[in-house]
Amino acid sequence: MSIRTPEQASRPAIEVPPHPQWPALSTPERTALTDRIKALLEAQDAVLVAHYYTDADLQELAEETGGCVSDSLEMARFGAASSAQTLVVCGVRFMGETAKILNPEKRILMPDLRATCSLDEGCPADAFGAFCDDHPDHTVVVYANTSAAVKARSDWVVTSSIALPVVAHLAEQGRKILWAPDKHLGHYVQRMTGADMLLWDGACVVHEEFKSFALERLRKLHPEAAVLVHPESPDEVVDQADVVGSTTQLIKAVVEMPNREFIVATDAGIFWKMHQLAPGKTLIPAPTAGEGATCESCAHCPWMAMNALQNLEQVLLKGDQEILIDPALGRRALVPIRRMLEFARERGIGARRDAD
Ligand code: 13P
Ligand code: SF4
Repeated sequence: MSIRTPEQASRPAIEVPPHPQWPALSTPERTALTDRIKALLEAQDAVLVAHYYTDADLQELAEETGGCVSDSLEMARFGAASSAQTLVVCGVRFMGETAKILNPEKRILMPDLRATCSLDEGCPADAFGAFCDDHPDHTVVVYANTSAAVKARSDWVVTSSIALPVVAHLAEQGRKILWAPDKHLGHYVQRMTGADMLLWDGACVVHEEFKSFALERLRKLHPEAAVLVHPESPDEVVDQADVVGSTTQLIKAVVEMPNREFIVATDAGIFWKMHQLAPGKTLIPAPTAGEGATCESCAHCPWMAMNALQNLEQVLLKGDQEILIDPALGRRALVPIRRMLEFARERGIGARRDAD
């Protein structure tokens, strides 16, 4: 197994924006705003498809209005199964693009199209295509956190909840795998399956910040706590986990495990759903900084934070921030996404509400 990229030096530097500062809303303001959004959703035959990392107000509103709050696999499945004419994807751009690829006839809006992902940004389609060309004997498996063009170049798309069984299935067939873009998830999958994998050198700027030494110290302070880790985290953090899994799988662990305390190494947005489903449990954010730092745990995706009630109302009023994909590109990207969804269906993976 090796970690390689075709042109290491030419990879784009990823600009990480500051977290947007949304003005605080009083309770009456929030109620009035959510009432206006509910009316707009109904008038436009629109539903919200939100990720667990988005603002709690958005997650609550999505649930109240018949939308969904879930991981990226279930977001794709929900959008494809929904009869609504407009899907408003609260998350990051690859999630909106996946919704458009699966539903080309629907209008797909996002509160802010600038909400990207460091994995997507770190895997430009042209360099990735050259990498694939150099390894024609490899089956190309890409994480969902990629552009439509990268997906169109792949044989399989996977999310974190399905990566292990897909790669295990391919390894059983003796296939060599070219994996992109998350090297940490790729390395975890390689270790678990023993597959022959060539990895792209990408990373999530949020999960890469978890610190293994500080986590060791925290575990000593909370010896009864179970450690839950998203596999976008570095190996030394994954190695300390009791459970490694997608956001849905981590939520399920909080609900089902007998422990009263959990140390959680993923984006802080997930705590809303964890508290909702397991109100009696104590959730401790895993550390992203060593001793003396001003922020002990700052794990929150700056792009997920671009989604708020305020810009959700604006996009419903203006209809801008629409995801558009070249239809021919969309048709090519659909093939590996469909392959994933079919595999999930056959194996009963990620069935709706398996966290509830
Ligand atoms: P999940 O599919 O586990 O929700 O992960 C998506 C993601 O972007 C995590 O950072
Ligand atoms: Fe991308 Fe990381 Fe943000 Fe998930 S948390 S959307 S992987 S940057």
